[in-house]
Amino acid sequence: MENFVYCSPTKYIFGAGTENSVGAEAAALGFKNVLVVYGGGSAVRSGLLDRVKDSLTGAGIRFAELGGIAPNPVDGPVRKGIEMCRAGGIDGVIAVGGGSVIDTAKAIALGVPYSGDFWDFYAGKAKPEAALPVGVVLTIPAAGSEGSGNSVITLESGTKNIKISLRTDYVLRPKFAILNPELTYTLPPYQTASGIADMMAHIMERYFTTTQDVEITDRVSEGILKAIIEEAPKVMAKPDDYQARANIMWSGTLAHNGICGTGRKEDWASHAIEHEISALYNVTHGAGLAVIFPAWMTFMAQYSPGKIAQFARRVFDVAEHDDTAAAAEGIACLKAFFGSIGLPVTFAELGVPDPDIDTMVRRLHENKGEVIGGYRPLRAADTTEIYQLAL
Ligand code: NZQ
Ligand code: ZN
Repeated sequence: MENFVYCSPTKYIFGAGTENSVGAEAAALGFKNVLVVYGGGSAVRSGLLDRVKDSLTGAGIRFAELGGIAPNPVDGPVRKGIEMCRAGGIDGVIAVGGGSVIDTAKAIALGVPYSGDFWDFYAGKAKPEAALPVGVVLTIPAAGSEGSGNSVITLESGTKNIKISLRTDYVLRPKFAILNPELTYTLPPYQTASGIADMMAHIMERYFTTTQDVEITDRVSEGILKAIIEEAPKVMAKPDDYQARANIMWSGTLAHNGICGTGRKEDWASHAIEHEISALYNVTHGAGLAVIFPAWMTFMAQYSPGKIAQFARRVFDVAEHDDTAAAAEGIACLKAFFGSIGLPVTFAELGVPDPDIDTMVRRLHENKGEVIGGYRPLRAADTTEIYQLAL
């Protein structure tokens, strides 16, 4: 195991009705005047936004609103939010939604105290050191942004969308995250399933490592993956199964708050490869991962089947003794699982029958470097092969 520092200071408030404590949580942080950020309408339709506003008002907190944040969020609303915060003397940002809303809220929070353009942080030209505090009311277990220090934004510049994941250790971790499993009952099945693929991918990006002697985080990761695989069919069959929703919701946070990655090198090539798909075709991130992750594993199994075989045996109870055969069986099990919850596992099933692989590979390496990934370094010829394996 490698040395590490782990600090995950987010306060989690989990359970039915907990969104009504958002005012008290915000007041405890000293917020007086907040920006409430939300998405395209689900939080309005469900009445959640009204409950959040009532709770803030009840705690004596004033607020401005920025709604309409779309999936795969872009820079425009971030700039608007920064202006609103500066003009309105805002002292905290509350995200009511999923990864797209939370990541927009984080980008706004980072941009407010910075004198330059917020994109400098995503372009690697500035180091994130200060941000307004962010609180979260989560509505979809998926991206794990409620517990991560990351924010993923797409820069719309002409015809070229540049989707970048900004990673910070602490600066962008939310101060609090409210998780009420009941809020996820209204999710469309495809969003529930895509969220499940995303959280599994967050664990697997950390699981597939070259670091030796990491049995504790291997076992934690395998345990969460097994629980997700058990609970997933329950939430798909019965969207208002509170206990199954609760287990899936907490899995999404544990998958990405860093605990599974302690003491080990991480990979993240599949995420980089997927981000080019959602940047170009605006597909749902988790569905893109259901297509790419098995392709990445198939590529890797040619060179390093051992850890993929371990995954197959421990997560899917594959009995095969030969590593290469076990890895192949594990990948088939993963694809079958994704298919069973209604997810695509090929580009065609994703609705992109003829992907522009050359463009995605070019942008991937322009945006993320000539070599990507930790499990086995990947160059353009390798990432081209992975995209092709997903056809
Ligand atoms: O906009 P509304 O109307 O709210 O609808 C949303 C949206 O259409 C809907 N939805 C959310 N909660 C709902 C609901 N519909 C009904 N009932 C509810 N309770 O779901 C759709 C997807 O929402 P979105 O926020 O886009 O989902 P997700 O959490 O999957 O976020 C995806 C974004 O997060 C990024 C992805 O790349 C993508 O841009 N990621 C962020 C990460 C991070 N910050 O750490 C890590 C991830 O790997 C990921 O890259
Ligand atoms: Zn993800």
